[in-house]
Amino acid sequence: MDIEYSIGIDEIDAQHLEIHEVAKAVIDAVESKDKWHLVHYIVVRLYELLRFHFAVEESVMRIVKFPDIEDHKRVHRELLQTVERLKAATLSPRGGGDEETLTKQFSFLPHILGHDKKLAEYIAANMPAFGR
Ligand SMILES: [Fe+2]
Ligand SMILES: [Fe+2]
Repeated sequence: MDIEYSIGIDEIDAQHLEIHEVAKAVIDAVESKDKWHLVHYIVVRLYELLRFHFAVEESVMRIVKFPDIEDHKRVHRELLQTVERLKAATLSPRGGGDEETLTKQFSFLPHILGHDKKLAEYIAANMPAFGR
């Protein structure tokens, strides 16, 4: 996993790793043209992981008084909405349009954790007790 995803809090980093793996599994399933119900199943798993992870991360941001919390929460909301749309799009074989459209819609997944960079920097600078 790319180091930029590391927050320095073990529990959150473990969640990031799992999300990264499941997002990769979604991309692999789409690329290998797996049956759409299999893709849907993995997207549902990703959605549940994200929902839980974002709630945990938002608690941590409140605890450490992260100044950009509102912006960060907005990104979480938008990501959840996007994955929710993917969930709906993968419900039926042609639910979200043709395969090429769907592949494009999934293309943001490898970057799903990139927005945590600022939070990682804040924790490293202000909460050394958490850090490495
Ligand atoms: Fe985040
Ligand atoms: Fe995160």
